Amino acid sequence: MLSIENLHKRYDKRADAFAVRAVSLDVREGEFFTLLGPSGCGKTTTLRCVAGLEVPDSGTIRIAGQTVFDARGSLPVAKRDIAMVFQSYAIWPHMSVAENVRFPLDAMGITGAAATRRVERALEMVGLAAFRDRPAPMLSGGQQQRVALARAVVKEAKLLLLDEPLSNLDARLRDQMRVELRDLQRRIGTTAIYVTHDQEEAMALSDRVAVMRDGVVVELAPPRDLYLRPRTVFAARFVGQADVLPCTVAARDGALTWLDTPLGRIASAGAPPDGPLSLLIRPEHIAFDAGALNNLHGTITRVVFGGRIVEYLVAVAGAELRVQGTSATLRAEGEAVTLHLPPERCVMVQGEA
Ligand SMILES: Nc1ncnc2c1ncn2[C@@H]1O[C@H](COP(=O)(O)OP(=O)(O)OP(=O)(O)O)[C@@H](O)[C@H]1O
Ligand SMILES: [Mg+2]
Repeated sequence: MLSIENLHKRYDKRADAFAVRAVSLDVREGEFFTLLGPSGCGKTTTLRCVAGLEVPDSGTIRIAGQTVFDARGSLPVAKRDIAMVFQSYAIWPHMSVAENVRFPLDAMGITGAAATRRVERALEMVGLAAFRDRPAPMLSGGQQQRVALARAVVKEAKLLLLDEPLSNLDARLRDQMRVELRDLQRRIGTTAIYVTHDQEEAMALSDRVAVMRDGVVVELAPPRDLYLRPRTVFAARFVGQADVLPCTVAARDGALTWLDTPLGRIASAGAPPDGPLSLLIRPEHIAFDAGALNNLHGTITRVVFGGRIVEYLVAVAGAELRVQGTSATLRAEGEAVTLHLPPERCVMVQGEA
């Protein structure tokens, strides 16, 4: 549905600071695809190039098989079958909520009962049906953002581009809108490209996630793989909590790799990648009991009680580990504990710890 090949974009032609560098990715039809990364990594720039709002320096962009940008030229925004919601959304101040949402349908020649039905459905999805006749400026920031979202989804375009569309909503509404956005995207069968720096949001919504850093896609995978088996230290740290330790390969033994780490010798399931190596383990994968391999003795140095989840800092020979427990079993500061690191949860990742 969307294919980006070797996309380059810089804003300052004299500098060699690229906002986007050699980005290539393919998005399948009906997929919910997310660009995730820290502020300034090039997410919005990539999306604006797809929309036709920025002209790339080089590369190729295809939407549904049609080339919309390459060295020969660029297809205008209006000719691309897309709908978008921007980080800085703009709604029409002289129109009511419903008129705002209906506006793109007029331009598409969809009128009458068919248009009204679509507008109502979009307004219901964003929880603004009761506000349909309210002048648009008389809404809160979060409500305006929802109008912008409704105005985009109402078009039912092939490609829906969403740049942090939930950023102005409070936590509860954001959770609710995530679910509804995902439902709606499935129902209308549209392909969504979603931009966020919120890794939890990316996990909850996406079929696949591209992690970006300094204009480059460093990793591209479904949420589960990205979380459980990331390839790089950067992605491991950006997605979820992580204990990352320096390590070197001591020995290979069948399916296991033995690693020398500040914790001592640790067994990891799998084969090491090339290049500089680190060991990743997630705090919730460390168990407070003994197993067959990778048992460590330590002392709890800090307890952060978060309600459902309790976070511990545990001092072990040569390092400190973050370990996650639940409120079902509470442990105290100073307590001596045995920790178990299951080898299949000890993941070798590329990069320096
Ligand atoms: N109009 C512009 N003129 C010059 N530089 C720009 C412009 N827009 C973005 N940049 C630069 O390009 C780089 C990528 O910016 P971009 O807006 O794509 O990042 P982002 O990943 O969307 O960040 P955020 O999460 O903060 O929205 C940044 O270094 C930014 O400063
Ligand atoms: Mg942005």
